[in-house]
Amino acid sequence: MNTQTNEHHPWAEPYKIKMVELLRMTTREERLAAIREAGYNTFLTRSRDVYIDLLTDSGTSAMSDRQWAGIMLGDEAYSGSENFYHLEAAVREFYGYKHLVPTHQGRGAENLMSQILISDGDFVPGNMYFTTTRLHQELAGGTFVDVIVDEAHDPENTFPFKGNVDLDKLDALVQEVGADRVPYISLEGNVNMAGGQPFSMENLKALRQYCRKHDIPIMLDATRTIENAWFIREREAGYSDMPVRKILREICDLTDGCTMSAKKDALVNIGGFFACNDDEVFKKAQNLVVVYEGLHTYGGLAGRDMEAMAQGIRESVTEEHMAARIGQVRYLGQKLLAAGIPIVRPIGSHAIFIDARRFLPHIDQEHFPAQSLAAELFIESGIRTMERGIVSAGRDPETGKNRKPKLELVRLTIPRRVYTQAHMDVVADAVIDVYHRREEIRGLKMVYEPEYLRFFQARFEPLT
Ligand SMILES: Cc1ncc(COP(=O)(O)O)c(C=O)c1O
Repeated sequence: MNTQTNEHHPWAEPYKIKMVELLRMTTREERLAAIREAGYNTFLTRSRDVYIDLLTDSGTSAMSDRQWAGIMLGDEAYSGSENFYHLEAAVREFYGYKHLVPTHQGRGAENLMSQILISDGDFVPGNMYFTTTRLHQELAGGTFVDVIVDEAHDPENTFPFKGNVDLDKLDALVQEVGADRVPYISLEGNVNMAGGQPFSMENLKALRQYCRKHDIPIMLDATRTIENAWFIREREAGYSDMPVRKILREICDLTDGCTMSAKKDALVNIGGFFACNDDEVFKKAQNLVVVYEGLHTYGGLAGRDMEAMAQGIRESVTEEHMAARIGQVRYLGQKLLAAGIPIVRPIGSHAIFIDARRFLPHIDQEHFPAQSLAAELFIESGIRTMERGIVSAGRDPETGKNRKPKLELVRLTIPRRVYTQAHMDVVADAVIDVYHRREEIRGLKMVYEPEYLRFFQARFEPLT
């Protein structure tokens, strides 16, 4: 199909730069002092000490001139802001859900959905956990059950749809606890914790059939579902000629509602929403949002934020934007693979995930290899990344023991429209340099552990 991309360079940026933000270079001594001060947790470092910020792709996108123009069109009325209706129209057009409740970001929507749908003692199956999603399920009295295919837990397995739901695992749960104890299945597009891995449309259709039979709604985590749609187009028979926005709609039409962190796909610095088709669930969400976020026509956002989001959604579904997005991430991944760096494969959409188990085989998982590696990359080059392994997995609420995920990863997350190809080269060189002296890297011990989502604020010290 005509993807409207550049024939000479298929992922060349479909924009030019109008304003720049200057970066500060630091010395190794400065970075060492900064990471010590931050308790070897990149989340606790200051942005001014960072050279290339690959901590997250959440809220870190560069907005377009049209989005900024939308900011000036903010209708900051308490109720019934025009911008809400623009956002509602964009969500209906591209995601297709009937009802919209804006929230300040994704976890605001997760809170609403979990409180409305989950009862004490319920089980919520999902295609791998996400940190905030699972916590909200647990806080609402539910137990998360992982029903992703086994391939997702193996960083070297190149199965093209590692985000698929294993229907046998799902059925085993339903048989064990009964469908009435399963309020919904939580289905994430381009599964973050698995390395940005998509589900296939074939899998989703089979899931839909199963869920219809058992009267279980499918609630989508739509955060990176456009990126999932891109992979369906690339990898699944019958989709190679379909525009990505149509694939997105087909996905949404097979589900009953969604939570969305608009800080990713939708190209905004803040924002999210809950959307659904069921009138009763909508009424409850509309009512509950008033308790936690704000009135149902702004949900914790300014009018201008909703306008930027409406415009961001329109830009996010274009072929040229997505080609540049996926192309840049793939460029970095291929450089690392060529240098023999162990990364999760296939290369995902939003980040490169280094396999810290293979990078640092001499560090036991109890000594936080991915956390150590993230700190080391920062010391090496001022590149800020994050841990996605034993620290992020947290403790089992029943046993209090550390969960020990098979995947022990460092995430190099690429913000949308922010960095250049030269930046990607710097990142690759820094990772390769650290790889060459990997035996020097030591593990860490945790010296402070917060109760919730510990990876954000935990502090560490190097093992002596
Ligand atoms: C897959 C996924 N779901 C939900 C969230 C939560 O969204 P937010 O950070 O906007 O609260 C995130 C954020 O990183 C995410 O990656």
